[in-house]
Amino acid sequence: RARAFASTAAAQSAIRRVAVIGGGQMGSGIAQVAAAHKHDVTLVDVSQEALERGKGYMAKSLGRVAKKKFPEDAQAQSRFVEEVLGRVSLSTDLKAAAGSAGLVIEAAVENIKLKQELFAGLAAAAPEDAILASNTSSLPIARIAAPLSAERKRRMIGLHFFNPVPQMKLVEVVRTDEAEQQVVDDAVAFVKGIGKVPAVCKDTPGFIVNRLLLPYTMEAVRLLERDVASPRDIDTAMKLGAGYPMGPFELCDYVGLDTIKFIVDGWHKEGQGLAGDKLFAPSAKLDELVKKGHLGVKTGRGFYEY
Ligand code: CAA
Ligand code: NAD
Repeated sequence: RARAFASTAAAQSAIRRVAVIGGGQMGSGIAQVAAAHKHDVTLVDVSQEALERGKGYMAKSLGRVAKKKFPEDAQAQSRFVEEVLGRVSLSTDLKAAAGSAGLVIEAAVENIKLKQELFAGLAAAAPEDAILASNTSSLPIARIAAPLSAERKRRMIGLHFFNPVPQMKLVEVVRTDEAEQQVVDDAVAFVKGIGKVPAVCKDTPGFIVNRLLLPYTMEAVRLLERDVASPRDIDTAMKLGAGYPMGPFELCDYVGLDTIKFIVDGWHKEGQGLAGDKLFAPSAKLDELVKKGHLGVKTGRGFYEY
């Protein structure tokens, strides 16, 4: 952790260098927001191609932010985009990236084995006082941390961002039973320093938001299966009748139907107190769409066509 700070925002959290592991939808957003708040960021992925894709996501999103920040000043817009991208290094070398980080945020694919292996590697490479964090949607942080030493477990937490990261204000700060209070406090300061609002919660399935959101989205799918209404009418109803920015089917398509299926199947099968819960029982409709590769916006088709 650096003692000389690049900015007030970075100083608030005492964390300067951030390594983000996984440059997909979420990781690129997290890297972008941290860099926009003056952190030095290294974005790590498995290939140069994946890194370039992540950089493309960042450039596109930063373009939207810049347009609002500097309306009618194209030069200032491109300067801003270049400046923020200039603070993000791209790397396929996990160990080197973690070696100088005060905070590592893992946002690779939702797979317990892969995450455990990643964290074993991170624990071997990161400075002793680094905070290790996972952006998992559904896996227990303590399970991801299982291979780590007791000392590392004290500095491991969940930092759960929401999609689209640049736009969504919330970050859940997930506290395991082992995590030190100081680590939670430092993580809260980091979250505030990047312009987000923290909500601290225990390491329980779905934390706060997904534990409430997934039953709702699954109930919407079951309304469709019972032929109560079309996706369009259900979405319209929830947007205009309940004030949600997206309806449940638009949201499923946006998050990714594979991700939704992975979360509910995991809770239904593996439990964490939810095994066999009817709320998370498999849905024939969801299974069929995933099987066909209709995963939502990212594949051009889900409940809707794009
Ligand atoms: N980068 C930068 N800015 C973005 C952006 C991005 N990726 N996406 C949207 N924006 C900005 C737009 O520029 C626009 O800005 P202004 O209003 O200031 O001009 C603003 O967001 C609104 O965008 P749009 O007009 O294009 O569309 P919208 O009004 O429908 O808003 C939305 C888009 C913010 C995504 C909104 O629909 C929304 O909040 N949807 C719900 C999202 C949600 O619930 N996310 C949580 C998913 S669950 C999850 O993430 C957890 C998990 O573990 C699975
Ligand atoms: P994604 O598929 O868009 O991106 C995952 C990235 O991880 C890919 O670029 C992939 O190449 C990379 N990756 C795979 N193995 C890796 C490894 N060993 N080392 C480094 N990088 C590796 O997925 P996403 O939607 O960004 O989700 C990432 C994580 O965030 C998941 O744990 C997911 O549950 C969680 N999450 C997702 C959402 C969402 O709405 N999609 C919201 C909150 C949290």
